[in-house]
Amino acid sequence: MTADRTVITVDGLSIYNHLHDDVAVESVSFSLRPGQALGIVGESGSGKTITCRALLGVLPELFEVTAGRIEIDGRDTAALSRRQWTALRGTTISAVFQDPATYLNPSIPVGRQIEEILRVKKGLPRREARAAAVSLLETVRIRDAEYVFFQYPFELSGGMLQRVLIAAAVACEPAVLIADEATTALDVTVQAEILDLLTDLKDRLGLALIVVSHDLAVVAQICDDVLVMRSGAVVEQGPTERVLHDPEHEYTRLLLDEHHRFGLERFLRPAGAAE
Ligand SMILES: Nc1ncnc2c1ncn2[C@@H]1O[C@H](COP(=O)(O)OP(=O)(O)OP(=O)(O)O)[C@@H](O)[C@H]1O
Ligand SMILES: [Mg+2]
Repeated sequence: MTADRTVITVDGLSIYNHLHDDVAVESVSFSLRPGQALGIVGESGSGKTITCRALLGVLPELFEVTAGRIEIDGRDTAALSRRQWTALRGTTISAVFQDPATYLNPSIPVGRQIEEILRVKKGLPRREARAAAVSLLETVRIRDAEYVFFQYPFELSGGMLQRVLIAAAVACEPAVLIADEATTALDVTVQAEILDLLTDLKDRLGLALIVVSHDLAVVAQICDDVLVMRSGAVVEQGPTERVLHDPEHEYTRLLLDEHHRFGLERFLRPAGAAE
């Protein structure tokens, strides 16, 4: 894996919402290399999730990509058939969202669900898939992974479930991982642990990470670059340190003001400090 290779390139992506008859996302561009992280911030309804859904090839009905190009691991996604998209999703690009419980089957032990992904997507035989699932649970720092493997979703806390979902998302060694409000529902301590885990996976597995969050502190902690969205448009974009220290746009300043009382400073280096 060469560090200068971009694993995802989005160029001028625009999405139309036929339900509201307006533009949902306008001209989003960015690219990421292995091990890089991009934060997407902005108020509710600004188009963050819709952007991610376009990257995953699962836009809701009545939403349409009207312009731009999405290239994932060197492949132009416009050329992909439905079947090719299905093969790509989960293997090359993967995602975790808020409310992990909704993405798990309540009647199947969590380890089995990861085992199943490995069987279906990687074609591993059961015994190997099971060992790999246990090792993935260990990778996401679940203690007693052999025991947790057989637990049902209702037996686990929100933080544990999010770890299971992250294990499932990285099971097939994707190049790109999207975390859309993945820590929003968790309490502060657990949120910090999950963010730490994501950073570790990014560095260790060379994942390109896209982190969507309302919380600028989350982005400040793990993202190299940040993209600020408002009403579907990108109002500001650049290195996280620069954007959060020295915002150019009034809207970014507004977002920052809202966050200052939550202690954003502790995640930022002093202005002008060396990398
Ligand atoms: N499944 C859907 N069906 C119809 N409209 C949708 C759907 N998902 C999002 N929208 C609309 O698309 C626009 C962008 O929504 P999006 O979910 O991308 O916002 P967001 O930035 O992720 O907000 P939040 O911070 O609340 O998650 C909004 O007007 C929203 O109402
Ligand atoms: Mg959203």
